[in-house]
Formats: sequence, C-alpha cells, structure tokens
Amino acid sequence: MADLTATIAGIVSPNPFWLASAPPTNTYGQVARAFDHGWGGAVWKTIGQPIVNVYSRYGGLDSGTQKLIGLNNIELITDRSVEENIKEMALVKKRYPKHTLIASLMVETNREAWHEIVKRTQGETGCDGFELNFGCPHGMVERGMGAAVGQVPEYCQQITEWVKEVATIPVIVKLTPNVADIVYPARAAKRANADAVSLINTINSIIGIDLDAMATVPNVNGKGSHGGYCGPAVKPIALNMISAISTDAEAGSLPISGIGGVSTWRDAAEFIALGCDNVQVCTAVMHYGFRIVEDMIDGLSNWMDDKGYKTLADFKGKAAPTITKWENLNLNHFTRASIDHDKCIGCELCYIACEDGAHQALKLVQKNGRRLVEVKEDMCVGCNLCSLVCPVPDCITMKHIENGAPDVSWKQFQSGKGALAERPSHYQPVDDAE
Ligand SMILES: Cc1cc2nc3c(=O)[nH]c(=O)nc-3n(C[C@H](O)[C@H](O)[C@H](O)COP(=O)(O)O)c2cc1C
Repeated sequence: MADLTATIAGIVSPNPFWLASAPPTNTYGQVARAFDHGWGGAVWKTIGQPIVNVYSRYGGLDSGTQKLIGLNNIELITDRSVEENIKEMALVKKRYPKHTLIASLMVETNREAWHEIVKRTQGETGCDGFELNFGCPHGMVERGMGAAVGQVPEYCQQITEWVKEVATIPVIVKLTPNVADIVYPARAAKRANADAVSLINTINSIIGIDLDAMATVPNVNGKGSHGGYCGPAVKPIALNMISAISTDAEAGSLPISGIGGVSTWRDAAEFIALGCDNVQVCTAVMHYGFRIVEDMIDGLSNWMDDKGYKTLADFKGKAAPTITKWENLNLNHFTRASIDHDKCIGCELCYIACEDGAHQALKLVQKNGRRLVEVKEDMCVGCNLCSLVCPVPDCITMKHIENGAPDVSWKQFQSGKGALAERPSHYQPVDDAE
C-alpha cells in the first residue's frame, strides 16, 4: 500500500491532509476530533492581539443544486485570548505527538510584538512550525495586518526576518492571492529564509446583493464589507499561483503547502502533481465535516497503488514542467470532436453551444427516423465546448487527428469565405452593393 507520509520543510505528517487555519481549528475539541478521523495536521486558527468579530459572517455561492461552490467570509482572526489558545494547542500536541500542529500568527508590524508571540508560542505549545498569516483580505488589513503585509514584498520579507531571528522551528509564509503577481511576495519570503510558503488565502470579494435589503450578503445590520472568497470555485486560481511559484527560478525551491478549493483526494493529487508537499482544507470541512478525510486518504492511496506510486515524492511536481508559455504550444497538433450516438440523449445542448457560442461546427441531420448531431469535420477547431456542455459522460470526446491538419475551412472562415456558405440564406450578410 502507498505510503502517504508527507514532509514539508522537515515537518513530518502521517498524510498530506492538513486543516487550514479557520473555524474548524478554533478549539482543542475540534482539532482532537479531526485527528481522530485521520487528518495529518492542523494549522490553528490565527492567534494575535484580541479582536471582536461581527455577528453574521459568511455568504455562500450556489450553482444549481450544488451548494457552496464558493464561500465568502468577513471573519477576522480568533476572538479567543492568546492564553486560551496556547493552553489548548499544548493539550492537542501532548495528546497527538505524531500529528502536525502549526501555530498561525498575526500581530502588528512591530519587531518586539512578533518576537514575543513567536517565543511564547514555541515555548509553551510544542507546536511543529509557524504559519505567518499575511493573507487575511478584510478587517485586519485596515489595522495594517494580513494582506496589508502580504501585498508588499518588503513587509513580507521584513516580518519573516524578524520571525526567523527567534524561531527555532520551521516558518511557513502564507501568501495572499490579492496581488498582481504572486511570485514577488514568494521571492520576498525566500530572501528572508522562510522554510516554506502556503497559498492561497482568501480572495477579495462581494458574494452578492440582497435585493430586498439592498445590502451585501452577509451584512451586519444593513451594512456590509468586502470579504474573503474560498471553496471549490477558487481552485483554478490557486493552481495557477502555485504553478507560478513552483516554476520560478528564485522562489521555485521553496516547499509549498497548497490551499484553495481542495475538497477531494483528486484535488489533493492535482496540487501535489504541480509541486505541493501537502494540502490544506477549510471550506470542504466547513461544508461536510471532518470525516471527508477518510475518503481522501482511501482515494489517494488507491490511486497511487493503481499508478504504481509508492510515495508522494514519486509524483510530486510531475505535471509542473508541462506548463509553458502559450508561444511554446504546438500549432500542428489537431483534435476534433467525436460524438457517440449510442450514448447521445438528443438534448442538443452541444449543437446550441457550438452554433451560438463557438465555431458552428455541428449540424443536425435526420437518419433512420432520428434527429442526430453530427460534426462538420472541416469546421471543428477542437475547442472542447461541446464536450464541456454535454451532460452524458464520454458521449463527446476529443480525438487527436493523426495525419496532420484537417481540411481547415475555418481558415477560410477567418478570411471571410467558406463557412458562411453553409448558413440558411436569411443568415447571409446582406451586401448593400448588390
Ligand atoms: C470563515 C473563514 C475563516 C478563516 N480564517 C482564517 C484565519 O484565521 N487565518 C488564516 O490564515 N486563514 C483563514 N481563512 C482562510 C483559509 O485558511 C484558507 O486559506 C481559505 O479558506 C482557502 O481554502 P478553502 O478553499 O479550502 O476554503 C479563513 C477562511 C474562512 C472561510
């Protein structure tokens, strides 16, 4: 059976699944329960100077029947005292010595304040590492913390250096995605000798407007504020930022803890294939509870067995080199849609999407008393849209065209000839000159 042991910056966990710093890691009771269910590690809810949180904090984005494809929050760091948190963290570490416990920190931009919290936390909790929260995009920013630090590489570097002056355990810098280019704060972390980076924290967002209240969701007594967005919908953004760091000449050697929309073992495998050493999960646990980790462990382990991967290192970063600049893509590689009429249910969603939204490469034909969608081979540019909208698995697949270029009348289409001839006459452009 595959060995799921995960190591990041020298910190060893029984598996790569950590809870991200968030409400699921607020208390001893929660983290203990999570470890009992199999989570390999937990980043404690960020501790720092005491704050007061607002009532009404979360907003959700649903898609059809799928709840919470995105989650928005205006919650700040823990509103429990440093003493209380440190006491409970120490109890967790004592009871679960083989599980990973990371202390997430955020204090004002002041060397003494950082030295004090670092020394105290490592001295009293027995935690395995620190995560510096330079990512919280709301509330704390107005106090000059969170993303206010993460958005300025010089501040990232400065505070990380202060922490490294006194830390005796590994330091992970948690990055904000609310920047033009994530590589710059990652490089700053590297220059400050951070042991690893983690990303992404939440994305600036307003999740929606309540049209009766004429106020944001959520709102606090009629007034709202932008919040932090996370959940399955942010996974593509996280993957892109991770890829940017893992392939960067300067920051690329930093170990990466991947965060953002991880909900299944497959998501985790994708993050690791792009170069992450482990993953952190928040929204999926807030939605479905701690037990999802049981499926994650089984799924990842079975998949690794199937593929012959014995350890995470066997596939870590394997997909990273396949990501390149657009200009390096092969312009002589052609694919074309292929429709399996035995599987087709005749909904014609593919036809509508292609006709109105893409390249007019599908046609409706009558065959043996059945209306069918067929591919116009000379018009298909292999864009994938038909297969993406098709509700039936494997009904539309994209086939590689072995013998070079298809009969590309789409090139004629681009030059204004050819394709228009296939339109019914009332779709033909009227030439005033005629
Ligand atoms: C309600 C809520 C509170 C959060 N609090 C913190 C926090 O205190 N510290 C922190 O570093 N990240 C915090 N996060 C961000 C998460 O740790 C994580 O980076 C983000 O949610 C993306 O992961 P996900 O898509 O799995 O939710 C919070 C997220 C949510 C939803």
